Amino acid sequence: MNNQQLETQDSTRRTFAIISHPDAGKTTITEHLLLFGGVVRQAGTVKARKTGNFAKSDWMEIEQKRGISVTSSVMQFDYAGKRINILDTPGHADFSEDTYRTLMAVDSAVMVIDSAKGIEPQTKKLFQICKMRGIPIFTFMNKLDRDGRDPMDLVDELESVLGIQAYPMNWPIGMGKTLTGIFDRYNHRVELYKHGDESQMVKLDDNNNPINDDQLAEDDQFQDTKDSVELLDMAGNKFDEDKIATGDLTPVFFGSALVNFGVKTFFDAYLKYAPAPSPHKTEEGNLINPDASEFSGFVFKIQANMNPNHRDRIAFVRICSGEFEKGMDVNLYRTQKKLRLSNVTEFMANTRENVKTAVAGDIIGLYDTGNFQIGDTIYTGKQPVEFEKLPQFTPELFVRVSAKNVMKQKSFHKGIDQLVQEGAVQLYTSYTTNDYILGAVGQLQFEVFQFRMKNEYNSEVNMEPMGHKIARWIDPDQLDEKMSSSRNILVKDRHNQPLFLFENQFAMRWFKDKYPDVTLTAKL
Ligand code: G4P
Repeated sequence: MNNQQLETQDSTRRTFAIISHPDAGKTTITEHLLLFGGVVRQAGTVKARKTGNFAKSDWMEIEQKRGISVTSSVMQFDYAGKRINILDTPGHADFSEDTYRTLMAVDSAVMVIDSAKGIEPQTKKLFQICKMRGIPIFTFMNKLDRDGRDPMDLVDELESVLGIQAYPMNWPIGMGKTLTGIFDRYNHRVELYKHGDESQMVKLDDNNNPINDDQLAEDDQFQDTKDSVELLDMAGNKFDEDKIATGDLTPVFFGSALVNFGVKTFFDAYLKYAPAPSPHKTEEGNLINPDASEFSGFVFKIQANMNPNHRDRIAFVRICSGEFEKGMDVNLYRTQKKLRLSNVTEFMANTRENVKTAVAGDIIGLYDTGNFQIGDTIYTGKQPVEFEKLPQFTPELFVRVSAKNVMKQKSFHKGIDQLVQEGAVQLYTSYTTNDYILGAVGQLQFEVFQFRMKNEYNSEVNMEPMGHKIARWIDPDQLDEKMSSSRNILVKDRHNQPLFLFENQFAMRWFKDKYPDVTLTAKL
């Protein structure tokens, strides 16, 4: 492809993640999007992957039962002239640093909120990562077919809890049993709610009155909504494309994923404002354009043991520039080694097809025999490229870890070293006793760690839960070992930087009161 063709291809890509708290409706929405894209023909297909409890015995079993397979990690399909890449951000007990890192590989995010619950903890955490990246965030207020909270409250909460300005693209007419439709400010029409039927559109005149629909015009709920919309027009935020692009303003859509109401309206508007891939920053501070002719990309996630017989791993690469071609040779920045990319997959929702070509915005999965680490840059051409380092996230859960068999220290250390380097868990050592402590953002990371230690490094480990802790780094110059106690354990990270693991907020406040001059810092 020449630059012009590359640019055309890149501009069709829309790569995003759906962020939400479990049960807000992410799977249900994803399913509808896949239906629009013609990838699945029947609702329930994606849902079927997401099932109950899991046994710890086998990673494949974890995978099957929890539905965390490569095929559902990235979903690609074509819709309305665009090539869509949806990256999955697992929730619940599957929540892990990978969930955060996935957000490093997207160009925008869709935030799904249960309109009865408002903003929930996991949404907040994921939102903060998107905010830090400054990517556009679109909000879908779901479950309008049920009684929920006052729409004004919900929109207010975006501003007061998340600190992002909101622009309602539409406004509900009734809710739950009384749901009549949505007042679509953006398309200047009303979308009528007809359960089980295609929704019907009613145009509005310049005074916001329905054209040729007297019943709607006389409906009290419609009048209430009209008043609310006029209030929003006067006193609310203005629609501002620049602010959407920088993630300072979120367009808000109301709807119901379950009954497929408002989802298409949302998606069509979303695609209008969601960005195509933008230039990526290197460690040196240069920008690499998506339509640059040399290929580049970075590894944002490594999924291990897809097949226990082969022990292979898949490195997920976000392409940032150029064109990927099967069998091409690339340079791996960290080792300066040349690698041939022959064993590669792309991600269609239901099948794994061999990739032929892929461009910026697309995700490819490279079968890996241990060459890659999270954050690695690969590139072609003479000019070395290293993309900005992926951030480290503050772990919240901790365990003490030791080898079950003291005679097998060597394999224990080798396993820990490699898994920590790969980014599977974070490693700390206690300041005084040199005990190993692992940190993670989700329990799943420990389970995968334990499983892989046994299967890949033949090392059985003991893990003693320490529970939730608040990790805060302290300037080594300010540190006095006497500051530590059982309520704020002093540890070192793998770069030998000291930090405290506080038992809870109370313990941290107590510490701050006692040592007001000491600065404590969190990572992301
Ligand atoms: P998640 O991926 O964000 O965890 O949420 P998911 O789509 O699985 O939805 C969680 C539950 O909420 C499901 O019900 C789903 O049917 C329901 N749901 C999703 N969207 C809507 C909506 O717009 N309105 C209503 N009323 N419910 C919605 P469940 O009973 O937990 O599961 P299932 O019995 O449907 O499998």
